[in-house]
Amino acid sequence: MYDKGKIIPGLIVFVLIAVSPIIYNRGNAGHVPNPEKPKNAKECVRPVAEMRESHMQMVIDWRTDVIRDNGAREAVTAGGVKYVRSLQLGCMKCHTSKQKFCDECHKYASVEPYCWDCHIAPEEKD
Ligand code: HEC
Ligand code: HEC
Ligand code: HEC
Repeated sequence: MYDKGKIIPGLIVFVLIAVSPIIYNRGNAGHVPNPEKPKNAKECVRPVAEMRESHMQMVIDWRTDVIRDNGAREAVTAGGVKYVRSLQLGCMKCHTSKQKFCDECHKYASVEPYCWDCHIAPEEKD
C-alpha cells in the first residue's frame, strides 16, 4: 500500500516548488508598459493599433523617403496639423519624452533602437 501520509504532503511540496517561480515573479512580470500620452495632441499620425504594430517600419520608411528623395520631408497630417517626416521634428513633437514614451515599451520588450546614437532625443524635463 502507498503511504498516503507521505505522498500527499510530498505532492503538495512538489507543486509549491514548481509554481514558486510563477508566484515569486508575479510582481515583475505583471509590469505592463505605460507609455505617456501626449498632452498636446489627441491622435497619432496613424491609428494607434497600427502604430503599436508597425511604428518600427514607419520610422525606417520615413528615413528612407527623406534620404532617398534628398530631404523630401513630405508632411503627414494628424488632427488637422501637419508634421514633417522626422524623428526629432515629427514623432518627438508630440511624444516629448523618449524616456517616458519610447523607452517605457522598449525596456519591457528588451529592444534598444540604435537611432539615438545619432538622433537627438528631446531634453527630458524631469
Ligand atoms: C500629432 C502628434 C503625434 C505625432 C506627430 C506622433 N504621435 Fe504617436 N501618438 C500620438 C497620440 C496622441 C497617441 C495616443 C493616441 C491614443 O491613445 O488614442 C499616440 C500613440 C502612439 C503609439 C501607441 C502608444 C500606446 O500607448 O500603445 C506609438 C507606438 C506611437 N504613437 C509612435 C509614434 C511614432 C514612432 C511617431 C513618429 C513616426 C509618432 N508616434 C508621431 C500623437 C502623435
Ligand atoms: C507601445 C509600446 C511602444 C512604444 C510607445 C514605442 N515602441 Fe518602438 N518598439 C516597440 C516594440 C514592442 C518593439 C520591438 C518590435 C519587434 O521586435 O518586432 C519596438 C521596436 C522599435 C524599433 C526597431 C528596433 C529594433 O531593434 O528592431 C524602432 C526603430 C522603434 N521601436 C522606434 C520607436 C520610437 C522612436 C518610439 C518613440 C517615439 C517608439 N518606438 C515607441 C514598442 C513600442
Ligand atoms: C549613424 C548615424 C545615424 C543613425 C544610427 C540613425 N540615423 Fe537617422 N539620420 C541620420 C542622418 C545623418 C540623417 C539625415 C539628417 C538630415 O537630413 O537632416 C538621418 C535622417 C533620418 C530621418 C529623416 C529626417 C529626420 O530628421 O528624422 C529619419 C526618420 C531617421 N533618420 C530615422 C532613423 C531611425 C528610425 C533610426 C534607428 C533605426 C536612425 N535614423 C538611425 C543619421 C543616423
